[in-house]
Amino acid sequence: MIFNLDKTTSIANVFLAELRDEHIQKDAMRFRKNMERLGEFFAYEISKTLEFERKETQTPLGVAKTAFLTQQPVLATILRAGIPLHQGLLNVFDQAESTFITAYRKNHKNGNFVIQVEYISTPDLTDKIVIMADPMLATGMSMVLCCKELLNRYQIKELHIVAAIASTEGVNHVRANLPKAKLWLGAIDEEMTSKSYIVPGLGDAGDLAYGVK
Ligand code: URA
Repeated sequence: MIFNLDKTTSIANVFLAELRDEHIQKDAMRFRKNMERLGEFFAYEISKTLEFERKETQTPLGVAKTAFLTQQPVLATILRAGIPLHQGLLNVFDQAESTFITAYRKNHKNGNFVIQVEYISTPDLTDKIVIMADPMLATGMSMVLCCKELLNRYQIKELHIVAAIASTEGVNHVRANLPKAKLWLGAIDEEMTSKSYIVPGLGDAGDLAYGVK
């Protein structure tokens, strides 16, 4: 299943437009905030697919029919670019536990590279719903590798992947390697540069949020 924000119009499209805008994105605080707001929006959309328990809640004036999540998801992200999107999801799923992963690109002299997962901090994910956030799903290689590391360790109940912008190649790679994952995307862009930057994309999400490495 793919949910693509480009198929709808709502205020979330404005957050995405501002994230892409080369003038507005110079304001790092606004960039982080827009990414966070996008995370909140995706959390709301994902929540519509989760299970709720009907309850009754005592108000000062009577008893109201209410609904509560039966299970909090676990929110996972790849450092460092994923932090603002993760924070947005956490603002909404405010009781959720978090998983943090670092993956880095090891360049070979011949121009090829491999991605290696370096560090994982996670609670037990057995039977949990996991929402993995990364702002840019470019080749999809880090995403697949990080998700597989988690799937190899735990019997995860349901996997959701959130990205502000994906490339067509990234989407195909994820769908081929993680066929059960549900994809929540802000946009799908057709092209990538030779260095795997999405075009038109938005640039380097980590640098825009936290400064150039
Ligand atoms: N990571 C980014 O930050 N931007 C891209 O376009 C691709 C990967």
